[in-house]
Amino acid sequence: EADLGEQSPIFQQLLTRLRGFSGIHFRVHQEQGAEQVLSEIYLIGDTKSLRIEDMEALPGVERAVRVSREYRLLGRHTGDQRTHGFDYNGVRFSQENLHVFAGLCAVDTPEHVEQMLRALQENGQVCTRMGAYKPRTSPYAFQGHGKDCLPWVFELAGKYGMRVIAMEILHESHMDEIREALEKTGHPTGVMLQIGTRNTQNFELLKAVGRQQELPVLLKRGFGITLEESLNAAEYLASEGNTKVIFGLRGMKTNLGDPHRNFVDFAQVPVVKRLTRMPVCIDPSHSVGSRDAGPDGIMDVFHVTAQGVVAGANMILVDFHPDPATALVDGPQALLLEELPWFLEDVRLAREAYEERRLLAAAQISI
Ligand code: E4P
Ligand code: PEP
Repeated sequence: EADLGEQSPIFQQLLTRLRGFSGIHFRVHQEQGAEQVLSEIYLIGDTKSLRIEDMEALPGVERAVRVSREYRLLGRHTGDQRTHGFDYNGVRFSQENLHVFAGLCAVDTPEHVEQMLRALQENGQVCTRMGAYKPRTSPYAFQGHGKDCLPWVFELAGKYGMRVIAMEILHESHMDEIREALEKTGHPTGVMLQIGTRNTQNFELLKAVGRQQELPVLLKRGFGITLEESLNAAEYLASEGNTKVIFGLRGMKTNLGDPHRNFVDFAQVPVVKRLTRMPVCIDPSHSVGSRDAGPDGIMDVFHVTAQGVVAGANMILVDFHPDPATALVDGPQALLLEELPWFLEDVRLAREAYEERRLLAAAQISI
């Protein structure tokens, strides 16, 4: 049913069936599927003695699933083969497809932003990353232009046909600043709120971001906590109402003298896809941290991107800059605009390999 108010027939039937079970309450989530709106009713409380068959016998119920894992809303539960996707501003995000978000780590000048966006448009891209609020190790380092740059960034993004900009926020007030600036811009550009690795467990921020359901969220894995802890952080967003969540892998700190800025964790793409229904993003730039290349002439940023994509990644967040030497944040890891077609072609090859590997696996299963 599209409208699952508490007066709806399913709810009435449920209430009748649950008479006598105290302390159980409901939460309803609706997702736009390919052809219809899918409604999920969560029964929260002591549901052990409820029988799956009784729930499935209710009119209008397609399937009942017992949720035994921690990640109630975003988790992939036993017997649940559905992919969880969402559409935002004309772009579909799911575990089935792949989007590249190439752009500036930190917005600096309008000229650089325009050069970046022009290059993206020329290469058929409609998504980008633009950092306005920067979380810096040193309080004396450039902290980003903040809300002052939003009007011209959004204006330029609209001019070059960008549909979604991934933008990190550090405080809930930044959400309002972004929404206000978006409203004032006439162009149909959207923003995916990014919660960075330093804020993965900032629970009050997660709750505030989760309470708004308009803008999707890219939540990055915390660099020094377990995967389980980071997935629970994602669940905070969903538990407050926002299930439009993408989970980002960006490397871990190990203190083992890693050759990269962080230990690249893209082998965990399939793990996150198995445990949850979230699309999975990889950030090769913040993982590798440099433009170092192997003897084959391929930069490590390209290599690890390919590894993540071959393993089924659904989104790539990657730093580019028209003039990395003058970049105000993370210049050493930025790719050059001239390298964008090369990068996109490398990604295409890796994705093709993933698709072929998927077909191969399907053929094994059907043998
Ligand atoms: C980039 O986006 C981050 O703000 C950056 O990686 C922070 O690192 P730093 O402040 O230690 O340079
Ligand atoms: C970023 O993407 O700009 C960023 C700061 O990344 P992370 O949170 O992964 O360090």
